[in-house]
Amino acid sequence: MTKILLIHGPNLNMLGRREPEVYGTLTLDDINARMKQIAEQNGAELRVFQSNSEGALIDAIHEAADWAAGIVINPGAYSHYSHAIRDALTAVRLPAIEVHLSNIYAREEFRNHSVISAVVLGCIAGLGWRSYACGLQALIDILKDRSAA
Ligand code: DQA
Repeated sequence: MTKILLIHGPNLNMLGRREPEVYGTLTLDDINARMKQIAEQNGAELRVFQSNSEGALIDAIHEAADWAAGIVINPGAYSHYSHAIRDALTAVRLPAIEVHLSNIYAREEFRNHSVISAVVLGCIAGLGWRSYACGLQALIDILKDRSAA
């Protein structure tokens, strides 16, 4: 069974309560439940990890090299400056997709650039929880294509 790691970065544990006009009203548990459903419908296994700490996120990426086929990641604010998370993704060489609930290109200038985007397959932003759904479905499909090739 294809195994995928879904990573949520800092402050995403506050979803539902945190600026709902920007990030929506679903909690992290709600999003995770929807993503698990998508994984199940596609015959994939989804493991979920959230941390507010850069080092813990990096450790999770490193550990994924031993068991996961790919990663969906919302690095939160680390997207905009964590070269260490970017290096971790490069180091493990797992196919990864970056997702953002909000449209980072339409917000404050410091959010307009992600240092992560250059090392992932693609980035989906601005679709609320559906960014996660699109990212996960795309990753599953890409992994299927690769294993069929
Ligand atoms: C975010 C966008 C980031 O700029 C912000 O720091 C977050 C959430 C999003 O999902 O829209 O924490 O990654």
